[in-house]
Amino acid sequence: MKVLASAPAKVNLALRVGGPRPDGFHPLDTVFEALDLYDDVEATLAEDLTMSISGLGEDLPVGESNLVIKAARLLQERYPDRGINAERSSSPAGAHLAVTKRIPVAGGMAGGSADAAATLVALNALWQLELPSESLHELACELGSDVPFALFGSIAHGTGRGESLRGVHAGTMHGWVILTNPQGLSTPDVFREFDRLFPDAGDPEETADLRSALEGTDLRVVGKLLKNDLQPAAMSLRPDLGEILESIARAGAGVILSGSGPSIAILTDPSQVQELASDLASEYPDLTVVTAHGPAAGAHVRVMD
Ligand code: C5P
Repeated sequence: MKVLASAPAKVNLALRVGGPRPDGFHPLDTVFEALDLYDDVEATLAEDLTMSISGLGEDLPVGESNLVIKAARLLQERYPDRGINAERSSSPAGAHLAVTKRIPVAGGMAGGSADAAATLVALNALWQLELPSESLHELACELGSDVPFALFGSIAHGTGRGESLRGVHAGTMHGWVILTNPQGLSTPDVFREFDRLFPDAGDPEETADLRSALEGTDLRVVGKLLKNDLQPAAMSLRPDLGEILESIARAGAGVILSGSGPSIAILTDPSQVQELASDLASEYPDLTVVTAHGPAAGAHVRVMD
């Protein structure tokens, strides 16, 4: 038996960050958007838990440290007697998890989180666990701050450390051109740099204006409200990003660093995406230009056989 599931990349249209909480995480007020740039996880029934990666990130570790294996182990530990395991007297069923990666690695677009979310929905089906979305959400929170949104998809207002989600209505489709950088950035490093630059940060700013602009159809209004508080920290670690951001500041309807970077996302009308992408590809031959549209669906099963 086999199940193929997919989960989306995200951009943060706004990422407002506060000073660190006692647990070290930063309180966020953020607006996530899921893009139709998907990673796939094909889960095949097996005795052990193993995984492989193709596409981007073929050199990433495939052992217990990978969020895909962590997601699978969490399901095994929490639900040892459920679904197909109700009939088994031996150890819980395993799986081989074949990941096809299209979301840039360490790019600030939550690719690892998408893989974990796709694993949760794939194994929920493969192991016939029949867990409701609330249970998957709880497991996703344990796996990482961005995993719940990869399950949720569409556009959402995120608070807490990003795991507390409420849907936002979108008035129109968005086109995106993403400049991805071959050299990734570590999310903890960027948050640490944020703390160094802004030692007095209090509560995060809020995102109500952006959320109401998203309900309308004028992308220029949305574009002016894009804001990422991690941008100065990412630029401090990587001055090359500052140069690119400055030179394309007027591209499309608005430009923003995606999450903790280094991917840069340009919002534009869907009809302008291809033209803008080819202009940027000739201007930045060392970067990879990816096009996408949003909002897109969250993690879902595509094929079962
Ligand atoms: O939750 P996740 O494991 O994806 O977070 C990775 C790292 O990013 C955390 O260890 C922390 O350093 C940082 N982070 C944070 N505040 C958040 C989300 C992530 O400091 N709200």
